[in-house]
Amino acid sequence: MDRLPTARRFVRRFVAGPALEDALAVAARLNADGVDAAVTHLGENVATAEEATGAADAYLKMLDEIGHRRLRAVASLKLTHLGLDLGESVCRVNLERVAAHGLTARTLVWVDMESSAYTDRTLELYRRLRPTYGNLACVVQSYLRRTAQDVEGLIEIGATVRLCKGAYREAPQLAFPDKRDVDLSYTRLLDRLLSADALARGVYPAFATHDEHLIGRAREQARAGGVAADRYEVQMLYGIRHDLHATLRAGGVQLRVLIPYGDDWYGYFMRRLAERPANLAFFFRQLLRT
Ligand code: FDA
Repeated sequence: MDRLPTARRFVRRFVAGPALEDALAVAARLNADGVDAAVTHLGENVATAEEATGAADAYLKMLDEIGHRRLRAVASLKLTHLGLDLGESVCRVNLERVAAHGLTARTLVWVDMESSAYTDRTLELYRRLRPTYGNLACVVQSYLRRTAQDVEGLIEIGATVRLCKGAYREAPQLAFPDKRDVDLSYTRLLDRLLSADALARGVYPAFATHDEHLIGRAREQARAGGVAADRYEVQMLYGIRHDLHATLRAGGVQLRVLIPYGDDWYGYFMRRLAERPANLAFFFRQLLRT
């Protein structure tokens, strides 16, 4: 598909480019506009230990470059890219390498949340490593029925938590099938993460959404609770709702944009298409025209 110019152009809407350099150039531009960055090297479900080690190496290089260029940027990674399918120990070794490098560079490392097949293992590894690597941050998904309980556990340890809606296809026993329930769950979790009790325990919430209503809710709750602007942030994806950036920044909201790069864009791109039917229709219309 990436040999078709139309497809490549469309992928480029969501992916900075094939190389680290492409993502760092975007990060520098965003920084100049007062927006922070998170950089992710695309890849997931690797099949060999060599690939997993290679992925960790790419993150070490990324952290070095972020430091050299003095960018306001952090790393965001997937555990299956670091070898979780090959066994916990393979993944753990790689995650510790990246986390230790980030700790030295004083840079956060977000551990993305993948499908529910990985939720327990991801949270378990996060909980185990966080006492050593305080720069590790984790993600929860409001579509999962279990998340309210997971959030309580994360509040107890004063975690740095990204709250997103969730981007994988899940069974209705595990995830709310109705978007209204996902949004309601997001609202409840947002309120909980911004509560005085959670913040007093050291929780740092990041609200990852392009949903204006939910971003408004976070701002209102923060204002009502007297939460300082630097005690939480809003996160968005590269290529989505850039039109909101300037207004949010002007309103004093800390904003971070996640910038993906790399050749292994298929899974990421398909999730972006799937979460918005209009993208899919547009994409296929363009393909048919070529
Ligand atoms: P929603 O889907 O309701 O969209 C709200 C509005 O945003 C739409 O009306 C539209 O304007 C715009 N929009 C949203 N998606 C779009 C798209 N693909 N194309 C064009 N416009 C779009 N998920 C996960 O399972 N694990 C993770 O670790 C992460 N990490 C993550 C980090 C960051 C920084 C973000 C912003 C998101 C994630 N996600 C994620 C993805 C998340 O779960 C979710 O799938 C997307 O953010 C889309 O949901 P919204 O909250 O934007 O709401």
